[in-house]
Amino acid sequence: MEKEHIVLPEHIAIIMDGNGRWAKKRGLERTEGHKVGAEVFRKICQYGSDIGIKYMTFYAFSTENWKRSAFEVGTIMNLFRKYLEEMEEREGENEEAGYNIHFIGSREGMPEDIAQLMNVVEARSSDKDKIHINIAVNYGGRDEIVHAAKRLAKRIEKGELSPEDITEEAISDNLYTAGQPDPDLVIRPSGENRLSNFLIWQSAYAEFYSSDVLWPDFTPEDLDKAIEEYSKRNRRFGGI
Ligand code: IPE
Ligand code: IPE
Ligand code: MG
Repeated sequence: MEKEHIVLPEHIAIIMDGNGRWAKKRGLERTEGHKVGAEVFRKICQYGSDIGIKYMTFYAFSTENWKRSAFEVGTIMNLFRKYLEEMEEREGENEEAGYNIHFIGSREGMPEDIAQLMNVVEARSSDKDKIHINIAVNYGGRDEIVHAAKRLAKRIEKGELSPEDITEEAISDNLYTAGQPDPDLVIRPSGENRLSNFLIWQSAYAEFYSSDVLWPDFTPEDLDKAIEEYSKRNRRFGGI
């Protein structure tokens, strides 16, 4: 990528969409698309880290995706399990890569062994800071806000907070992304122009970039294109 004149977003969020259509186009099962998509995820993480992106959030599985067939959900969970096992086994490599991995979404409802692996991978990488990688699994933006509201309500019940303490900052601090900068750029491949319940609070002022490329075909060059386009945008945040 031409580095001149490029403003790198601090936080890029990606909706990894289009796996099913990619497979269908090739006469394959939808799950074949998820397998390739999982490889592309690894590549884009590496590339983002190489070019100096500090935060990346990947939407892998939504609270609504449980509606899909048991076979498809099972395949996605197996791919996720495989990724976690790989992360656990290759701890040394991760140390070097400097990935700080964080999972956003509800652990409730996740298979028990996966939930445990998520805790292990998160704990082991928590002191790294080359790049922060959030993986959104069993994630829904509305669910996240409900979760934050409940946490705050419990503190009010205990007398630790008063209703006046419920500020935008207090809500942000109780989301799964607490302490992280909001996404600057949200990328959705596959030609859809919607958020599908992704980071709905955090994306209030994010730049949205839609690409027609299906996720399994997404390359580092496609990420460059999105960043170049982002670079040209004029963000006003309500000002002039
Ligand atoms: C994204 O690809 C992966 C998940 C939602 C888990 P899709 O499976 O939604 O692919 P399309 O949108 O049907 O092509
Ligand atoms: C969003 O994609 C969720 C993920 C990519 C994980 P979907 O394919 O589930 O979204 P819709 O159904 O097109 O809105
Ligand atoms: Mg989809």
